[in-house]
Amino acid sequence: MSGRFRNLVLAAAVIGGMTCAMALDIQLPPETGAFKQDRGAEIANGQCLICHSVEYVVLQPPMPRAFWKSSVQKMQQKYGAPIPDDQVEALADYLARNYGVGPNGAPAPLEAPVPTQSAAPSDGPKLATKYGCFGCHNVTVKVVGPAYRDIAAKYKSDADAFGKIDQQIHKGGSGKWGPMIMPPFPQVTAAETKALAEWILGAK
Ligand code: HEC
Ligand code: HEC
Repeated sequence: MSGRFRNLVLAAAVIGGMTCAMALDIQLPPETGAFKQDRGAEIANGQCLICHSVEYVVLQPPMPRAFWKSSVQKMQQKYGAPIPDDQVEALADYLARNYGVGPNGAPAPLEAPVPTQSAAPSDGPKLATKYGCFGCHNVTVKVVGPAYRDIAAKYKSDADAFGKIDQQIHKGGSGKWGPMIMPPFPQVTAAETKALAEWILGAK
């Protein structure tokens, strides 16, 4: 926990340094300081650097728009960020476009990804990549979320395992494995959810 707090103190120092640098109009290296130049960057610079540095966003693995939207809402609702409701969509668009999932790191499209009509458990890794699940999960090691292997073990003899995983993917959740929150993924289709659940439940 104390490590996290040190991070926030460090973040405050970075913000302080950035304010000075901007006043002097010094070009900062792209990986520090402000958000990438794009439509909406001014909102992100105004709203997201109040409490922590841009690294909190930059160091996230590329994430789908649903992740960024729920991340903005989490800052708003859980941490009290003073983000007006009418800026949430613009921020989600901006973050998905600049820090989103796309082929070869290209900006993600504004719309939700085209749903796959049919999917099999062997598509699990592909789907987990498509929706950014690997940003928080690994098959054998706990990351932000539990290891898929541990989820499979927990649900080994639970008849309602599919129902619970379906619910977790579409609605998100927390408190079953710890205090961390999994954001909802409403855009994952029924076929994809089934394939992901079967793949996760088969993880060893
Ligand atoms: C009122 C303060 C505040 C504001 C404003 C704020 N955040 Fe945060 N943010 C936090 C706190 C507190 C944490 C958790 C810090 C920790 O665990 O070390 C956090 C963590 C994060 C993380 C890391 C993942 C996570 O969920 O813990 C991301 C990504 C993030 N913020 C994005 C944003 C974005 C994008 C904005 C602007 C829309 C923003 N933040 C504005 C307080 C804020
Ligand atoms: C931002 C981080 C994050 C992302 C992205 C994420 N998860 Fe999670 N996931 C978590 C956390 C944290 C938990 C533990 C929540 C809890 O304690 O209830 C979790 C739990 C789970 C569980 C266990 C549910 C249960 O009933 O025990 C499953 C299954 C799961 N995730 C699947 C997925 C899939 C599939 C994706 C991609 C579509 C995904 N996760 C994306 C963080 C994430």
